[in-house]
Amino acid sequence: MANFHLYFASCALLLILRPSTGLPVRNLSPEYHAQCPELFKNLLLNIKEVLKSDDLCSSIMSDTVAIKSKAETVLACAPALAQTSSCIGQSSSSFSENECLSNITKDLAHYDALIQSYLNSSLKSPEKEAKLLNPTLGIIKSLRENCSLKAAEDDDSSEEDVAQTWDAGSFNNRQEMCKMMRGFYVRTITINRAMGYISAGDYKK
Ligand SMILES: *[C@@H]1O[C@H](CO)[C@@H](O)[C@H](O)[C@H]1NC(C)=O
Ligand SMILES: *[C@@H]1O[C@H](CO)[C@@H](O)[C@H](O)[C@H]1NC(C)=O
Ligand SMILES: *[C@@H]1O[C@H](CO)[C@@H](O)[C@H](O)[C@H]1NC(C)=O
Repeated sequence: MANFHLYFASCALLLILRPSTGLPVRNLSPEYHAQCPELFKNLLLNIKEVLKSDDLCSSIMSDTVAIKSKAETVLACAPALAQTSSCIGQSSSSFSENECLSNITKDLAHYDALIQSYLNSSLKSPEKEAKLLNPTLGIIKSLRENCSLKAAEDDDSSEEDVAQTWDAGSFNNRQEMCKMMRGFYVRTITINRAMGYISAGDYKK
């Protein structure tokens, strides 16, 4: 048991270092567009640009990363861990594509609501921040509408994730948002890795 954390750390590291296989992207379920992996890559590039912009993280000294999404994407989308024999302590449950995709759906709903509520709060330069974040919202919208990543009508569990209240003043709001966009970046890396894994379909073998 004492070695659990060590094993876990090395497993996590393996997952991070696992080289991409470079396999061509196979088509998933029929309703799943070929454009979707591309959209997730665009999302990652977009968030990277957002983080570089002067309009969000400038003058923010802290390099904290915050993730408030309640989705368990890291857990639900980490199949490699369960299959690596050296990873003791992992549950042996096999990878569920559905569970992974519904957690990603939940993440997207969370960040959609988060960004919208932020843009609706009192901001230092509302026009600049809207210009910065609207493209991100656009990509999220495409993903939710065109990639079957929207929760079904009768499933409101992903919507209960109420957006943050922004009443701490524009500087503190921006600081919080900067941290959360860093978290979104990290989460999007995880999601892209999961999409690559799902596309390659290795877990079905
Ligand atoms: C998210 O993943 C967790 C852990 O695998 C799972 O228990 C849960 O059901 C998933 N959530 C959804 C909405 O599928
Ligand atoms: C934006 O703010 C207004 C008033 O402050 C509120 O009525 C509205 O519901 C908010 N919209 C979103 C998307 O948060
Ligand atoms: C969904 O895909 C169609 C066809 O590619 C496109 O015309 C439409 O704009 C997309 N919807 C969104 C919200 O991006």
